[in-house]
Parts: sequence; C-alpha cells; structure tokens
Amino acid sequence: MTSNKTIQAPRLLEDPPLHVESLLAAAGAEHPHRLICVQADMAADGLHYGNQWLAATQNRILIARQTVGAWAVVDTSIDDVIRAHTDVLVGGGHLLIERHAEPVLVVAFTSTEAAKFSEVARGIEQLRKHQALHINGHLERVRCQHCHRLLPEKDGICPACIRKWSTMKRITGYISPYRWKAVTLAVASVVTTMAELAPPLITRRIIDDVLVTDNPATFDEKVMLLGFLVLTLIGIRVVSWAAEWVHGWNVAWLGAQATADIRSQLYQRLEMLSLQFYDKRKVGALMSRVTRDTGRLQDFLVDGLPYLLINGMMIVGILGFLLYMSWELTLYTLIPVPFIIVWSIVFWKRMRRFFTRWGETWSNLTDRVAEALSGIRVVKAFAQQEREINAFGALNRKITDIGVETSVNRTIFFATISFLTGFGVIIVWYFGGEEVIDDRLTLGTLLAFYSYMWMVYGPLEWFGQVNSWMSRAFAGAERVFEVIDTAPESYEDVHAQRLPKMSGHIRFDEVTFGYDKSKPVLNEIDMDIQAGEMIGLVGRSGVGKTTIVNLIARFYDVDHGGISIDGIDLRRLNLRDLRKQIGIVLQDPILFSGTIAENIGYGKPGAKFAEIIDAARLANAHNFIVAKPDGYETQVGEQGNGLSGGERQRVAIARAMLHNPRILILDEATSSVDVETERLIQQAIHRMVDGRTTFAIAHRLSTLRDADRLIVLDGGRIVEQGTHAELMQRKGKFHELVELQQEASKIIAIAE
Ligand SMILES: Nc1ncnc2c1ncn2[C@@H]1O[C@H](COP(=O)(O)OP(=O)(O)O)[C@@H](O)[C@H]1O
Ligand SMILES: [Mg+2]
Repeated sequence: MTSNKTIQAPRLLEDPPLHVESLLAAAGAEHPHRLICVQADMAADGLHYGNQWLAATQNRILIARQTVGAWAVVDTSIDDVIRAHTDVLVGGGHLLIERHAEPVLVVAFTSTEAAKFSEVARGIEQLRKHQALHINGHLERVRCQHCHRLLPEKDGICPACIRKWSTMKRITGYISPYRWKAVTLAVASVVTTMAELAPPLITRRIIDDVLVTDNPATFDEKVMLLGFLVLTLIGIRVVSWAAEWVHGWNVAWLGAQATADIRSQLYQRLEMLSLQFYDKRKVGALMSRVTRDTGRLQDFLVDGLPYLLINGMMIVGILGFLLYMSWELTLYTLIPVPFIIVWSIVFWKRMRRFFTRWGETWSNLTDRVAEALSGIRVVKAFAQQEREINAFGALNRKITDIGVETSVNRTIFFATISFLTGFGVIIVWYFGGEEVIDDRLTLGTLLAFYSYMWMVYGPLEWFGQVNSWMSRAFAGAERVFEVIDTAPESYEDVHAQRLPKMSGHIRFDEVTFGYDKSKPVLNEIDMDIQAGEMIGLVGRSGVGKTTIVNLIARFYDVDHGGISIDGIDLRRLNLRDLRKQIGIVLQDPILFSGTIAENIGYGKPGAKFAEIIDAARLANAHNFIVAKPDGYETQVGEQGNGLSGGERQRVAIARAMLHNPRILILDEATSSVDVETERLIQQAIHRMVDGRTTFAIAHRLSTLRDADRLIVLDGGRIVEQGTHAELMQRKGKFHELVELQQEASKIIAIAE
C-alpha cells in the first residue's frame, strides 16, 4: 500500500489520430505493442507549433512527423540508441536521442510538455538498458484533456468541462444525512410557490365578481363575498409567511451544514495528504479551496439552488395559469421574452470578461500587498516604500476602472431589460384592453395577467447568468472534491505492521529517489545504522542530506530499493507508530501561535506542566523562558515571532525532547545561531542523543566530532564513511570539505 499515485500509473500512452495510427501500424508499432506513445506540440523544424508523435515498443523507437508536407516515420532500433535525454531551453526543450547512426534525433516541445518528455527520456533509457519500464504516467496537466483550454491552475479542473450533473449529485449527497430537513424544505418551497401564485387569482375574483360586475347581487352579498376573498388573501399571506420562514431557516441550516461537512472533510484530507501533494501546489491556492471555494458552494446552496427551484416552479405555474386564462394574450406577453433571454446571455458573456479581469487584478493586488507587508523590513531597508506605494496605486486604479466599467455596463443592462419588459406591459395593455372593451376578457383577468407578467420577467433577468454562476460554484466544488479524492498517507492501513516500541535499527537497501522522478537525488544508497548510533550526514548543500531524513520519516516513498526499521519495510510499517517515534529539529523551527508551554507540548497533548519544564531544562531553554515576564505563558506569534533564533531553536528541541523519539533528526539545528547559543544547544543535543538513533546534519563540520560515524555524500552516492578522526586521516572528500570550510572561515576572519 503506497500513497504514491505516480508510481502506480506507469504508462505514457496517448491515442494518436488515425493517419498517425496507420503510419505506426504500417511500421509494426500498432497499439498493443506500444509501451510509450506521446505527442509533441512543436513541428519537426522545432520552430513552429505543430505536432509529431513518438512511439516506443520493446525494441524500437518511431517518430512520426511531417517533413516537406508529408507524414513519414523515422524508425530506430532501441539497440542503436546510445543515450536519451532532454535539454531544457527557454519556453520549451528538446528530447535528444543519440544513436550510433547519425544524426541525433531531436523532438522539440514547448514548456507545457517538458515534464512529459523528461519521463519519456527516462523510459527510453530504461528500454535501452532492457530494464522493466517504470515511468511516471501521472503528469501535471496544464491544459484540459478534453477541450485543450489552459487550466486555471496546474492539474486543475477545467471549468468548461465539468460534468454538472454528476457534481450536482455529489453535492446533494452531502444533504442526504439531513433527509428530513430536505423534505421539509421541498414542501415549504412548493407551498411558498403556490402562495405566491394564488393572490392574482383572488384579486381577479374581487374585481370580476365584486367590483365590476353585472351580477344583480345585493350590496350585502357583495360585501360578504369581498370579506371572504380578503380573508382568503390574509390566510394565504399567513401561510406564505410561515412557509417562507420554514424555508429560509431550513435552507440556511442545510446549506451551512452541508458546506461545513465538506469543509471539514476537505481539511481533514489536507492534513492527511503527503508532502508530495504539497510540493506541487501553492499554499495560497489550497487555502482558497478551504475558504473561497467552499464559500461559493455555500452561496450556491443557500441562495442559488432554492432561487432556481422556486422560480423554475413559478414560471411553469404562471405559464399554466396564463394559458388557461387566455392563450392569445399569453403569446403577446411572451413577445419580449426571447429578447430578454438573448440580451442577458450576450450581456453576461461580456460581463464574464470583466469579472475575469477584475479577479486577476484583485489577486495581483492581494499578492503584492501580502508580499510587501511580510517583507516590510526589506522594503524599508532598501528605502523602496515609494515604489511599493506606486505599484499599489497603479493596481488600485486598475481595479477602480474595471469596477466603474462593470457598474456602467450593469446599469445599461438593467435599463435595457426594463425597456423590454416595459414593452411587454404596453403590448398587454393594448391588446388586452381591446379584448376587455370587446367583452372577450374580464378586467380582473387583465389585471391578473398584469401581475403575473412581472413575476415572469423578474427571474428571467437572472437566468442569463445562471450558467456561468453554476459553473463557478461547481468548479469550486470540483476543486474541493479533487483534494478529497486524493489518496491520503496511509495512516489507517489495517494491514500495516504495528511497531509501538522500535529499537531504531535503520537499513537503506539500494535506495534511489528523486522529487522529479527523472532526476534522482539519491542513487542506490546503502547504509546500515545500528540502534542508538549517532550518524553525521555530510555533503555539499543540495547533495540530498535533508532528502535522506525525509525518506526516513516517510514524507516521501523511495522510487527503488527499500528502507527498513527494525527489519520492517517502511511501506509496511504503521505510519502513526513511525512518526510518533521520530523527532525532528530543523534549522528554522516553526512554532505556532500560542504560549511557549503550548508549543513545547505540541507533540504530546495533555502533557503535564512538570514534563514541559523538564523538557525545557534538558533543552537549555528553561533559563531564558523564566527570565521572560510571562515565563512559560509568554505568547509567541505566528512563526515564533518575539523569540530569537536560538530561543526558538531551544523551544523546538524541548518539543522534540518531550515527544521522546527513538529516532532523532537534527537538520542543521545549529546553523543559524551564534557561538554561545550553539554551545548551549550542543549541550542540549548531547543530552538528547543518548540511547536514540540520531541523524545529525550540521553546517559546521567541527560540530559533528561526537558522531559515532560520519557518512559523506557526493553526487547522490555515499563516498566515504568513518569517524571524524578516520576521515580526517584518509584525506578524502571529507578532509577536502573541512579544508574548504577552514579556508572560508579564515577569509571571513580576515575580512572582519
Ligand atoms: N520538495 C522538493 N521538490 C523538488 N526538489 C527538491 C525538493 N526538496 C529538495 N529538492 C532538491 O533535491 C536536492 C537535494 O536537496 P536536499 O536534500 O534538501 O539537500 P541538502 O539537505 O543536502 O542541502 C536539491 O537539488 C534540491 O533542489
Ligand atoms: Mg538540507
């Protein structure tokens, strides 16, 4: 059970168009034989947009392309290939297939397809070495697969291609636990609709049977009837009031509840997703799924859906009454309707452009503000306030302009709509009036018509935007569902092996791993670390030290090989047991808003105060904490604002200490503090290391003297191992790094 989707979808197989298919088939690479088949979006000359196809079978590579107007296939035996790799250029790149025969095969592509071709190159390399094909078929999509429009975000949802019906079904699925409320709601909606529809029928009787009548009834009889009809009107109003009350309450409750359920499911999933998921996405975009997208969904459920349903029913009901009263007059009434519909569709289409521009400008503005304010120190240090103010001013003006334009357009829209509906009313007055004069229609019916007309025209104005408005709500819902549907880290895997008390014996067996699968960071790493051993990981920055500890904590799964703890492969180990016994201290520790005590206790909810103090003492943090006016109750802001780097570091160590891990990871924990603080931290670490398997990564190599063993990495491989003294004596890579560092510190000393 791996949470890693990418490895499970091993193929890059696109469907070529018929003419390419037949070319490939003629060359013996028909569908079942193909292992790879992809399209490149540049023409063979590499200068123009166009397309070419690359297919690979077990032993051949075929490239179908258009040269001098005609399609042809270049066919190469896989054994002829020396190397396949990609070359990334500005705005795109080349796939280069070097072979014994000349020339090198070049397939050009734009940057949207760079990731795909990096996988293709890897696949060809694997085929060339006769290895099993093991490539990443799940690539970031930049364009919609159906309509090829650019997606609003990478791997995102195409708003134009949402399956509205299934999304709708899924949304309503969230309402089904509250079935009875939904039924009450439906009943209330029907009652509200009927109560809206009834009054014109009553007033029609008041006019025709009481006020303007040839009926020779007595005065008393007429007053009786009037009283009765008026009472009915009052009754309807009361029923309508009650139904609306029930309706409003239920709608608000259901909408809020369903959205809250979705939101909390979404957040739970976000907490459970792997770091790999986060590597590809911006935190801002994810936050907006939790806040904006669910908010839109709620608006839709609370305002949109009921409005649509009720007005839909109303329009049908009204048309029924109108036709029943006079079909001729109904047709007259409907004359402006097509114009209203066409006009609103055209208008909302036009408005969507404004909305898009408005949204873009608005997000530029917020990004800019967020950046400038969080970097306010830099802004001031470089005296660039003016520049930020001007940049803001420009964006602000743009927003104002778009806002004004939008409002003007809106006014024109509504003015036109009232003009059209006004026409409808005039038509009805004229033709209806004629019929009344001619005694073919009663005055009451004409007035009822008049009332109904307004009820029809009202909602029509809005129906033009229903589509775009639903699209937006549903696109938000899809974005939310996408996260909910992503496989989480497997905390709940029942087959996972429990290991509540590990000893901390770690083995790496030929571990290969890369964040981008085509560029391994670690290459066939083998190491065997005894329980309780302290390992120092050494190597240039970017060599993969942090990556090794990421793999131990199973933030990522290895691509090849395996890591085991106490003989159990990490992928089979219960994840909660694993993480509970790993403590990590980073270079730039993250603290959460709250008190110092809360931050120390973060990994152990319900920790006793005495335990927290003990941990702080061990971490050499107690003294500075009690020196603060509020002691352990001192509030630290977001990111630990208000504490110095060294203080934050010691709080983080106390936090890890209280967690009491079996495996301790110190990733450059002392890199950003002064020498005196470093001494305090070193002392604390020294106490902590005892009896735990420890991985220490330190920028200053001299601080790793205490390690039982140093492991030196270079070029993704282990190049040296041994104690500090042994490695110094060997005068190899480690010695070289130490020398370099001493040289650097000498230069700094001279400079100072
Ligand atoms: N989340 C990530 N996504 C993509 N590449 C990464 C990520 N983290 C690290 N890398 C890359 O992997 C390589 C090794 O990084 P790292 O293990 O952090 O190095 P070190 O800790 O030794 O300085 C670097 O080239 C780095 O750019
Ligand atoms: Mg690092």
